[in-house]
Amino acid sequence: MSGRDGDTAARRGGGRRAALGGIRDPFAPWAAPGAEPLVRFESVVKRYGAQTAVDGVSLDIYPGEFFALLGPSGCGKTTLMRLLAGFETPDEGRVLLSGEDLAGRPPHKRPVNMMFQSYALFPHLSVADNIAFGLKQEGMGKAERDVRVEEMLALVKLEDFARRKPAQLSGGQKQRVALARALAKRPSMLLLDEPLAALDKKLREETQFELMRIQQALGTTFLMVTHDQEEAMVLADRIGVMQAGRIVQVGRPMEVYEAPASRYVADFLGDVNLFEAQVASVEAPHARLTAEEAPGGFRVVDEDCPAPGATVWLAVRPEKLRLSLDAPAGNPENTLAGTVWDIAYTGDWTNFIIALPNGRHIRAAQANANRRVARPIGCDDTVWVCFDPDAGVVLTQ
Ligand SMILES: Nc1ncnc2c1ncn2[C@@H]1O[C@H](COP(=O)(O)OP(=O)(O)O)[C@@H](O)[C@H]1O
Ligand SMILES: [Mg+2]
Repeated sequence: MSGRDGDTAARRGGGRRAALGGIRDPFAPWAAPGAEPLVRFESVVKRYGAQTAVDGVSLDIYPGEFFALLGPSGCGKTTLMRLLAGFETPDEGRVLLSGEDLAGRPPHKRPVNMMFQSYALFPHLSVADNIAFGLKQEGMGKAERDVRVEEMLALVKLEDFARRKPAQLSGGQKQRVALARALAKRPSMLLLDEPLAALDKKLREETQFELMRIQQALGTTFLMVTHDQEEAMVLADRIGVMQAGRIVQVGRPMEVYEAPASRYVADFLGDVNLFEAQVASVEAPHARLTAEEAPGGFRVVDEDCPAPGATVWLAVRPEKLRLSLDAPAGNPENTLAGTVWDIAYTGDWTNFIIALPNGRHIRAAQANANRRVARPIGCDDTVWVCFDPDAGVVLTQ
């Protein structure tokens, strides 16, 4: 492990995990003055015939980061990763690694390794030989290779499975062999394309923690592709949200969730209620909005709200709505009346679907903090929904 990687791992150790949710996280190499990215995509375009798979992507990824590319199927995630790995060539723009243009350098000469969605293990080779394969090809001597394989087996906790063949392993174990094999050459960067897609939910969650542990232990930069927003939120230091070949927002999980840049991002990351509204007045940091669905209008915190008259969308997450069976006095702001249309009890949360007078449905989620409630909200009840001025985000696109 190089000194820099060691430092990276140490720096991260007490950080993110000490403050769950990433609220206090000192690991932010992208914000450090003068920091050099490990990878730089510079206005990269990749076309397949008439189809533009990657449409002008510029992105920096920093040493030690766990970066997730998130977006729906077909938005260009895999293509972007393959451009970095060297399996594809950009039609326009450049891909740089540590400041050096990678153009013309074949995949095996790049210090990045890709772990494929299918794992692509050699069925006739044992676990140990699968892990050693790339090292052998590289010409590493047997003694050194054996040490490295032992190290990798320990890292993925498969010491007792070294002699087994892939067919004798569970899905989760195969995934770990593939991970060990991809890391054996100690690449400066590991590319993971939907690494957990083949695992069931429970195993996926366990493996997420394993991936975080391994990434922190090694300090290797990870670039992961996923269409699963929860997976990206749990694992990544930063998320790049993709839409039709472009990166539309980059930020920490909390930033993209709490401060989405567009309706697309708000909607892709979890549930959101969107209210079309008009800006009535701006008294920074507050703005007043009028909306058909809110008789008392909205009053929101927004530092850069467009001028009065503009059409905007107010995005409010379900967990930020409060429900009440008691009618409020007067015609208060940030309050909507509705009828409970459906209720889903999930144990820790209860999710409500509420029909507004215009027929539109909104979602509200309430944490079940108490075991008993005097008068629980039921289906067909008339309820009032309200939220705080800083609960929502004003979106202009
Ligand atoms: N080898 C290829 N030939 C033609 N079209 C491709 C090829 N690879 C990807 N595409 C197209 O490029 C777009 C992006 O694909 P991809 O990067 O695989 O998306 P994602 O990984 O986000 O699902 C898709 O429309 C896909 O059909
Ligand atoms: Mg893909």
